[in-house]
Amino acid sequence: LFSAGADFLKGVVAMDGLPDDDRVEVCFAGRSNVGKSTLINALTNRKGLARASNTPGRTQEINYFTLGDSHYLVDLPGYGFANAPVAVVRRWQDLLKTYLAGRAGLRRAFVLIDARHGVKDVDDEIMTLLDRSAVTFQAVLTKADKVKEKDREAVLAQVRGRLATHPAAFPEMVLTSSEKGWGLDTLRALIATLP
Ligand code: GTP
Ligand code: MG
Repeated sequence: LFSAGADFLKGVVAMDGLPDDDRVEVCFAGRSNVGKSTLINALTNRKGLARASNTPGRTQEINYFTLGDSHYLVDLPGYGFANAPVAVVRRWQDLLKTYLAGRAGLRRAFVLIDARHGVKDVDDEIMTLLDRSAVTFQAVLTKADKVKEKDREAVLAQVRGRLATHPAAFPEMVLTSSEKGWGLDTLRALIATLP
């Protein structure tokens, strides 16, 4: 699937701008700066496909990428702190929540969690929203290269514990580093085999 290539389709600022619901759709959600855009670039092997930066709040629209002729990859704006005006952040957070709660073709959400920090309260809120909307989701730990090996198990245990409280969560999580390429094949295989 991933060898079929990925392309930017469009940036969406309101629900009526969403493309037709005719592909398998997966989205990448997570706190600002957790590494959503970077992960999409790493998965697709396209460095500048999704715009990434060290400034939280880089992605401000719902960005659609086509993957082959069967899938959409969706890069979402981050939640939590963002380096942008309050009114603007408000608007895109509302859009994010409406999207997560109401997109019929959404097969799975990946909730990205910084492997240094574990699940925060804002992550729990998003997970609860996904529970209510019956969107199955899976946790993806990012930036694993920044965590010492001896500290990894503690974070995994924290995340596992939080996931257990969410009915829409898959218990399996994926530990990744976009920098080192860790976990990418696992994630690609997962996306390619979604029912
Ligand atoms: P917003 O669009 O602002 O919500 O952020 P985002 O979640 O899309 O994060 P983005 O991909 O822009 O990455 C944020 C920063 O984290 C960038 O400086 C990336 O280079 C860095 N980063 C992302 N993934 C990794 C990783 O696996 N390892 C390391 N060391 N840095 C990473
Ligand atoms: Mg981004």
